Amino acid sequence: MEQTGFTIWFTGLSGAGKTTLARLLEPELQARGYKVEVLDGDIIRTNLSKGLGFSKEDRDTNIRRIGFVCDLLARNDVIAIAAAISPYKEVRDELRDSLRNFVEVYVECPIPVLAERDVKGLYKKALAGEIKNFTGIDDPYEAPENPEIIAHSDSETPEQSLAKILAKLEEMQLIAASKIDAANAN
Ligand code: ADX
Repeated sequence: MEQTGFTIWFTGLSGAGKTTLARLLEPELQARGYKVEVLDGDIIRTNLSKGLGFSKEDRDTNIRRIGFVCDLLARNDVIAIAAAISPYKEVRDELRDSLRNFVEVYVECPIPVLAERDVKGLYKKALAGEIKNFTGIDDPYEAPENPEIIAHSDSETPEQSLAKILAKLEEMQLIAASKIDAANAN
């Protein structure tokens, strides 16, 4: 049987919209008949990566663990959707090289916009020095150089970003073209 599993990896700063897009993509792919699993950094850190902190070493360990599970899922025909800051390029590229079909989505948003939104109140704390090593404030974020998709969450709606992602997955032939797209192509 043809393998359908692959990994779609959302990277970007805290609050940029990774989880929002992952959770929008999930039902869309399910509606098209695919098995899907979302691995969200915030949730993974309460179980699989419980106890890990935010040093480079711990973040890399977290990302490798998430990548490992994504690969297990993908080889069982599940579409694995990961949403984690994953700030370091080297470990993301390591996953790109080791996982079968790795699609990177950079959820981009300027820091001032994120600090203004501050959904979890963490930027305020980081800027006040109450949280140390906060990504984008006093800890690095290495943006992808050649991601398959860039979602600009300050200028696109989540639905617009979702449409871009689906179009790219179709173009890469990782998912079948939707019936609506197919009808429009004829
Ligand atoms: S990653 O760097 O290892 O990829 P991950 O996505 O799992 O991070 O977790 C990030 C989440 O942890 C943030 O959305 C935020 O809620 C929380 N968090 C707590 N402390 C930090 C910190 N110092 N830097 C970034 N995120 C933090």
